[in-house]
Amino acid sequence: MKTIPLTALLVSSVFAIPGFSQDLPEGPGKDLVIKVCTSCHGAENFTDKRNTKEDWKAVVQTMIEFGAEVNSEQAEIIVNYLTKNFGKSAVNAKVNEAVRRR
Ligand code: HEC
Repeated sequence: MKTIPLTALLVSSVFAIPGFSQDLPEGPGKDLVIKVCTSCHGAENFTDKRNTKEDWKAVVQTMIEFGAEVNSEQAEIIVNYLTKNFGKSAVNAKVNEAVRRR
């Protein structure tokens, strides 16, 4: 668990603005991600990741096991948002593959 400075915690609870969520890219699902995915930890837990859709599905499943409250429809929206904004692009995938083959 990352330590969040107490002052940051107080400020964000007073103004009800989750710490880093405003930096999230616009798009369908953003509000849902802010609501669901920043309640236990900051958005930086996932904004620095680059995952495939399958990987994001697994992450969201794990978070549901941790206690994230989403139905399957919301989970799908979240997975799509994360894949679009924090996914491995086709270009990256090709580069990775080329590197691995050497
Ligand atoms: C019920 C609390 C809870 C909710 C809600 C939650 N998480 Fe988590 N998440 C955790 C815990 C606990 C960990 C492991 C400890 C940590 O890294 O803070 C974690 C870790 C992660 C990690 C791994 C971080 C790493 O560095 O390996 C990712 C990615 C992640 N969460 C994404 C999400 C996403 C996306 C959502 C929204 C669907 C979400 N979380 C909602 C509790 C939660």
